[in-house]
Amino acid sequence: MRRVILDCDPGIDDALALMLAVSSPELEILGITTVSGNVPAKTGAANARKVLKHMERLDIPVYIGESVPLKVKYTDAMDTHGRDGLGESFLPEVSGEYPEKSGVEFLEETLERERTSIIALGPMTNLAKVFQKKPELIHQVEELVSMGGSFKSHGNCSPVAEYNYWCDPHGAAVCYDLFASAGKKIKMIGLDVTRKIVLTPNILEYILRLDKENGEFIRKITGFYMDFHWEYEGIVGCVINDPLAVAYFLDPSMCSGFDSFTAVETEGISRGQTVVDSMNFWRKEANSHILTETDEKKFMSFFLSRILKKEDGSRWKEEELSLLQKL
Ligand code: RIB
Ligand code: CA
Repeated sequence: MRRVILDCDPGIDDALALMLAVSSPELEILGITTVSGNVPAKTGAANARKVLKHMERLDIPVYIGESVPLKVKYTDAMDTHGRDGLGESFLPEVSGEYPEKSGVEFLEETLERERTSIIALGPMTNLAKVFQKKPELIHQVEELVSMGGSFKSHGNCSPVAEYNYWCDPHGAAVCYDLFASAGKKIKMIGLDVTRKIVLTPNILEYILRLDKENGEFIRKITGFYMDFHWEYEGIVGCVINDPLAVAYFLDPSMCSGFDSFTAVETEGISRGQTVVDSMNFWRKEANSHILTETDEKKFMSFFLSRILKKEDGSRWKEEELSLLQKL
């Protein structure tokens, strides 16, 4: 069992990532922390609970993290994820108080107590707060996989920036700079690889036939996201970024890449851009592992074999998902 905290901004693709994580027995999910990104942290927490309820895993605690970025004005992504953050599915709220403890306090206390991995699926505000206060806790991080940034792929919220790192550029910059000082690397699952992971109507139809209940849930929350992709990127389907970060954490052979020093621009027209020194001009120790290649069919088989259930509650085996190979 690998101890992990999921730091996220659910968010439609975050929701799919949470479905994958809670369906993976190798993970001991210590908690979910939310951060303002796609939607405000409080809304994200409510959405995390909606996913956990669907997955019958309300035993996993959800902590509300930072409500605004370190310095820049907070800009949500409700245009992409809907006013409720789950594709305007407006699923019923899950009752119950949230823990007193904030997301930052939970992250800090957990890392103080034990080595833990973190899968970051939103802006890095919470992590920056923890590591600014106690940089030594970076040595307690078993592995940090961050969905964010981009090496050579164009941006998705500016010509050069990916949303998580654009939304809080100082949060990302602090993490990459402090990881450099600590001599550790952040595993960056950027747009170079996530853009290849497209949930198409064909695959959604396949999911519905394999597992009506989970298929309906996924259909409900992704319709809005598919419309957004058609309107703004001319894609039939939707790019599901976050589940790839979870899949890579579970199986590092899912993606390949290289070590590099990376800095995050915080100002001006290229705010949020990850400047990846792949040619080592700056002669600096690598603080990142940049993932650039992935096999989308391998991912999709892995993803579906984990989250989909047969009538008898058992899982589909990857080899049974052969139809996927023809999609
Ligand atoms: O740029 C894509 C990332 O930003 C994803 O994590 C999405 O959920 C949003 O947080
Ligand atoms: Ca996200």
